[in-house]
Order: sequence, then structure tokens, then C-alpha cells
Amino acid sequence: MSTSPAPHDTDTPLALLGGLSIREFLRDYWQQKPLLIRGAFADFETPLEADELAGLACEDGIEARLVEEHGPDKAWQVSHGPFDDATFARLDAKDDSQWSLLVQAVDHYVPDVAALFEPFTFLPRWRLDDIMISYAPTGGSVGPHLDNYDVFLLQAQGQRHWQLGGMHGDDAEIIDGIDLRILKHFEVTPGEDWVLEPGDMLYVPPRLAHHGVSQSDDCMTISVGFRAPSADEVVTSYADYLGASLPESLRYRDQGMAPVANAGELDDASLERVRELLLSTLDNPAQLAQWFGRYMTQPKYLEQLAAREPALKTHELVEYLEDEGVLVRSLGSRFAFRHGENDTSTLFVDGDGVPAPPALAEALASSERLTAVLLDYTTADLDRKAVVSLLTALVNRGSLILECDLQDEEDEEEDDA
Ligand code: SIN
Ligand code: CO
Repeated sequence: MSTSPAPHDTDTPLALLGGLSIREFLRDYWQQKPLLIRGAFADFETPLEADELAGLACEDGIEARLVEEHGPDKAWQVSHGPFDDATFARLDAKDDSQWSLLVQAVDHYVPDVAALFEPFTFLPRWRLDDIMISYAPTGGSVGPHLDNYDVFLLQAQGQRHWQLGGMHGDDAEIIDGIDLRILKHFEVTPGEDWVLEPGDMLYVPPRLAHHGVSQSDDCMTISVGFRAPSADEVVTSYADYLGASLPESLRYRDQGMAPVANAGELDDASLERVRELLLSTLDNPAQLAQWFGRYMTQPKYLEQLAAREPALKTHELVEYLEDEGVLVRSLGSRFAFRHGENDTSTLFVDGDGVPAPPALAEALASSERLTAVLLDYTTADLDRKAVVSLLTALVNRGSLILECDLQDEEDEEEDDA
């Protein structure tokens, strides 16, 4: 039984991709070249108002930045939130309006923003970094820059003038001493110069120079950003993970070596031995999968993973689900699965990996509704008791939430307001 959502129709032209099919977009544009998409989202309405975005930027624990082209101390000054009314009063009183407010991971706080990712699920969910939203009055921008990530820049409200430059390598000249990757030289590629209206979208591949300047006093741009680990991060993190399980006795060996010509020399044969030890240790596909799933599901903000208080008991979870209760994935939580052998999969959640029945792993990572049916996703090795304790553990660590708890939280927020 498959619990997967309906597969995408990969060959139908989509408005989301400017009339390209998913297959064509992935073949010709993804990670390669930019794509301007007029009317990607028909009749688009912003899921968040500018003052709500400013409100988020004032909250503790939410990553927010203010970029001022002419800051109080220097050009392209970046300040970090949380901000307060005084910050916005100072901006209002400024002579120029060349500033931008950027709020990261709005998808962690606003369900309607999280839902914007659904049309992009032809890409792996675990590649998503976050959905960032910017606000800028007329003239505001973050300067011509490049990112290491793929991004879909969706115009939410107002207008933004986008200009694209070329692809840059590691030798791109970046302005020193500021907190942004702003390019010293930015040359617009002829023809790659557009004003985006609400619902228009621009796909920008990694390391392509881009510059977007607000053309209206209410400009809001939504960045659906995808992360890709660097080789440095992959090597360091995998070596750490693997190292923890390697026995002390597995070592460099030179049994049967030829007599050395010069005791001071590091010869080819010794290098070949250490290379063989390194590569044969690293080349372990099963361990690699266990590490990669954990690595790619690490939460963006570990501190946002909040344990449930009071802890739920297994029988309470069963009663809740059997009484038509629904579980939801915590907005900031990352889930993925990998099917293994012997009817067991690994469910990766927020940096951990646990064995799970295949249907359960798929449902938890991808299904829209998580209901009592989960309790039936058992295998010979992982019976109902194991499934109940897995689900209860996920609720208690904060990766899954009882829908009724969410309702209670909303009611409390309304009472506080
Ligand atoms: C912005 O929204 O102002 C900048 C987004 C980006 O360039 O990545
Ligand atoms: Co950018």
C-alpha cells in the first residue's frame, strides 16, 4: 500500500514554470539558468501583510535583518533583529527609503506561507532551506549580490525591478567588511531586466548575480530558497558521523611492506595505503544514507524544537487518534524517509533516524493528513505497539503536534492579544 501523495504530472506545461513542464524545467533551467515566469501564481494575494512581517521581525528568536544602503554607520549596514517600534520610527524619519527588512523562515510561523511550498514538491522537501520574506519601500534593495542557493523570487505585493548579471565563481569580488555578499562589479546581462508584478516569479540559480530594487512603497518579495551543503560541510559532517562508529582497531597497516630506501621518506606505497584506508572507510552506502538523512533533516533552528509539556502517554495518543484526532508536522520540522531492505525503512526527523514501517515513514514525511490510519501501518517486526511508541516519541519531542494543541495555542494567542 502506498501512502505517497499523487505523483506530479511531469510532462504537462505549468503556469508555475512559465509553460514549461516539470521535466523541461529540471532539464534546462534548474541549477543552470534563470527563468522569468509571468503570472506564475494567478491572482496572487500576499499571505502576510507588511505590518505582520514587521511584527515577526520584533519577536525574540526570529531571524530578521535590516539592510540600509546608507546606514547610520556605513554603507550597506546590516542590523539584526529583534527590532522594535523605535527602529521603524527611525526608518520612517530617514531622508531616504533605501532599506529592506528581511525575515527568514516565515514558513515556520505562518501556515499559509508554509503552504506556498506545496507547488514546488516536484523538488525534494529536504532541499528547502526556508521561505524568506522581504519588505522594502521604493528604492530599497539588498544590493547586487549572489547566493549559493537556488531561489524562486515570488513577487507578493507591489513591484520590484530585477536585473541579472552573470555567473560568478569563488573569485567574485565581494565588498569587504559588510554582512552581505554584495558584488564590487555588477554588469546587467542585456535583456535580463524586468519589473515583477504580484504573482510573477523569477528563478535564480546558485551564484548568478542578481539585483532587485523596490519600485513601490509596499514591495514584498517571497524567496523560496533551497540549500545545498558544501563539499566542506559534507566531508566534515560525514567524517564526524562515521568516526563515532569506527573501531579503534581499524588503522593504517603496512604489513608486508618492502624495506624502506630512506627512513625519512613518505613514499608512494604508504600514501596508497592511507588513501585505501580512507576511501574504503568512507565508501559505505548504507552509512552514507543514514548520515545524509540525518544531516538534511537537521532543523534550521534547533532551539525551536520544543518538547511537549506535559508529555503525552501512549494510551492518550491512541485514544486521540481513534477519536478522529489528527497529527500535524511541526512547521519547522524536517522529515524524510529512505526505504531499506526487509520491509523496514528509516524515518529521518529533525536530525535523527529511526526504523519505521515503510508506509508509516512515507505517510509521516509526505501525507497531508495524519490520522488513526497510521496505527495500521505495521510490519512483522514493527507492530502496533512499536508504531504507537514511535508516534508518541515524535509528539513529545515536538516534531509532530496534536492538531487540538495547535487550536489551544491559537486561542491563547487571541486571548493575549
Ligand atoms: C530581496 O527580497 O530583497 C532579496 C532576495 C534575494 O535576492 O535573494
Ligand atoms: Co539573493
